[in-house]
Amino acid sequence: MKRAKITIVGAGNVGATTAHWCAAAELGDIVLLDIPQTEGMPAGKALDLMQASPIFGFDAKIVGTTDYADTAGSDVVVVTAGIPRKPGMSRDDLLSTNARIVGTVAEQIGQSSPNAVVIVVSNPLDAMVQRALQVTGFPPQRVMGQAGVLDTARFRAFLAMELNVSVEDVSAMLLGGHGDTMVPLASCSSVGGIPVTQLIAPERLAEIVERTRAGGAEIVGLLKTGSAYYAPAAASAQMVEAIIRDKKRLIPCAAYCDREYGVGGYYVGVPVVLGAGGVERIIELEMSREEQIAFQKSVDAVKGLVETMARLVGTPQ
Ligand code: NAI
Ligand code: 2OP
Repeated sequence: MKRAKITIVGAGNVGATTAHWCAAAELGDIVLLDIPQTEGMPAGKALDLMQASPIFGFDAKIVGTTDYADTAGSDVVVVTAGIPRKPGMSRDDLLSTNARIVGTVAEQIGQSSPNAVVIVVSNPLDAMVQRALQVTGFPPQRVMGQAGVLDTARFRAFLAMELNVSVEDVSAMLLGGHGDTMVPLASCSSVGGIPVTQLIAPERLAEIVERTRAGGAEIVGLLKTGSAYYAPAAASAQMVEAIIRDKKRLIPCAAYCDREYGVGGYYVGVPVVLGAGGVERIIELEMSREEQIAFQKSVDAVKGLVETMARLVGTPQ
């Protein structure tokens, strides 16, 4: 059977770790791409990972490159290219810099892998995935963002830690953008099928929800030199697996919502069915009045981000 081809753009912390998880799970052959200024870095990381394969016994061809020709015909492309926010940089500086980077990357992907499913990871996520859609011109089903798998994984980990139970028995759902306004849904989260609302007192649950919202910032505060990458990469690899193995996983991800949830043409985190075709279905949940208000606030924040991006870097025709 022909192995799937997975390209990961950006061979930094999230990109290289995504390559690691994808290779270890034998999801396919992997191309790790970065900018020419990084010289041998992507090739070095790819070779290093390849040399781990006899130890763990995974079969995958892993190459590192700075040339999009090597990525041609990829089945899935994961975009982790970008810069983190540095001291003295405003959010708008980050938005415009990463929008330009993701725009360049999307243009190259559009030409070299016209049939790929694209998973954007770069931040600010909900705007970057919109940029990738605009520039590739791919159907929205084939362009999505990774955020919800990470954010629910954080929620699940915190719930398991709180209850001292296996993470395997905790399932959770959340909606909205990848930021402070995300909406973890306690009403759709359960442990061994028991709603968390029956297991944890409301005040404590509210604290866990708050910790989930600030999950990225908590890691930045501890690492000091960058942001999280093990869990973001594991989340990205899970999405790659769902697509390549056509698993039809029902998971939250940043999907293009037009009439869905009345969003009107923006990317927000919603439950989707993810399979070989990309986002094959968007599931519309019933929300409480409180959740609806929180979701709308999150959608408004995403719209604001996309409007600022258009003002800073324009909208491709
Ligand atoms: P990093 O700095 O370790 O890696 C970024 C890589 O992108 C660097 O190697 C850089 O050379 C490369 N790059 C820059 N411009 C490029 C271009 N035009 N083409 C190809 N590669 C290019 O950063 P890290 O930690 O890997 O994070 C990557 C991105 O992912 C950041 O924007 C970060 O905020 C975001 N992120 C998103 C998460 C999510 O859940 N959506 C979670 C964690 C990080
Ligand atoms: C995170 O949530 C920085 O978006 C990144 O860890």
